[in-house]
Amino acid sequence: MSNDSEQRVVSGMRPTGRMHIGQYHGALKNWVQLQHQYECLFFVADWHALTTHYQQPEIIERNTLDMVVDWLAAGLSPGAATIFVQSRVPEHAELHLLLSMITPISWLERVPSYKDQQQKLNDRDLSTYGFLGYPLLQSADVLIYRAGKVPVGADQVAHIELMREVARRFNHIYGKEPGFEEHARAAVRKMGRKAARLYREARRDYLERGDREALERARALLSEQPNLSIGDRERLFGYLEGGGRIILAETQALLTETPLIPGIDGDKMSKSYGNTIGLREAPSEVERKLRTMPTDPARVRRSDPGNPDNCPVFALHQALSEESVRTWAATNCRSAGIGCVDCKGPLIDAIIKEQAPFRERAEQYERDPNTVRAIIAEGSEAARDVARDTMEAVRAAVGVSHR
Ligand code: TRP
Ligand code: SF4
Repeated sequence: MSNDSEQRVVSGMRPTGRMHIGQYHGALKNWVQLQHQYECLFFVADWHALTTHYQQPEIIERNTLDMVVDWLAAGLSPGAATIFVQSRVPEHAELHLLLSMITPISWLERVPSYKDQQQKLNDRDLSTYGFLGYPLLQSADVLIYRAGKVPVGADQVAHIELMREVARRFNHIYGKEPGFEEHARAAVRKMGRKAARLYREARRDYLERGDREALERARALLSEQPNLSIGDRERLFGYLEGGGRIILAETQALLTETPLIPGIDGDKMSKSYGNTIGLREAPSEVERKLRTMPTDPARVRRSDPGNPDNCPVFALHQALSEESVRTWAATNCRSAGIGCVDCKGPLIDAIIKEQAPFRERAEQYERDPNTVRAIIAEGSEAARDVARDTMEAVRAAVGVSHR
């Protein structure tokens, strides 16, 4: 794997079992695209599931396997992305522990999801240590891969903010070393004449004039250097900005547009509402679910004009149909040119068509779950190699290398 954190993307999903099309359009579809643009690591956040579902240990493994089958069905490929399970990379837990030493409790208490979720999931006791630490575990998930980008929905942005603050604090506390300037200057020389000159110029342009482009150029230059040690690389990233070593890279949210997908009752599609359409639902089921879906309640008879803005079926069109179909539906709804059965037709066809390759791919994995287990095992090993590397630097920084 490369060393370029700008090119590296990490994201996780809690193991909720079989996925629905709301989750597909909200996140998974985006992952499938990203795997061809970045170096991607995607994992099942099984420890995260335990922070809220610690009383249901029996569902975790089943849900993990079902979800990974959906990932593969949707087109994630172990050849293009690293697919793994969080708990198979125990280094996440070690980093979480070490980060916990420097994280003020108040930072965790003020993450909005902390109180929100406690209220929403009031059927279980979430006054636990693990639940409070959830966003810090999430920070470790990402920082351990020095990933520059995290594709998430808007609900996760506060967690990414925390990640950045924790990384900054960590670097601030542990990035200072005696003789930093001398070490950094020596490292510059190791890059060779030409690269060293470009680096110095870019650094000066950034520090003197705040030239962000120069900063980006210098970072890219560093990423391309084959013969820098990890320590020197960290020094030079830090030296660029005038500070100490950057041991943990600051990440950024890669905000995913999450279209609001209504469920078959018109409410937001969600497993807990029982109103979902599965990612690889049988075509007859897709049809049945759509046929019974409520429409504009004011449109009682076929001859009544309707209002698409008050219709969950139209909301589905908005999320899933092409522009021409949406216009056709809206215009003919308002003029009573079509009935609701007609309106649902192209939606049913589109969903069944989109899902055909998913169902096909899933079949082989369903028949042979060991292939899925092997993909997870291999991905977890690859992820671990990167995680181990980071942990060496982290252990050294906090004084527990013992070598
Ligand atoms: N908290 C995320 C969610 O509930 C899942 C998650 C865990 C995650 N670790 C992560 C997402 C790391 C991105 C990066 O959706
Ligand atoms: Fe909804 Fe379509 Fe019926 Fe209009 S015609 S009410 S948009 S289902």
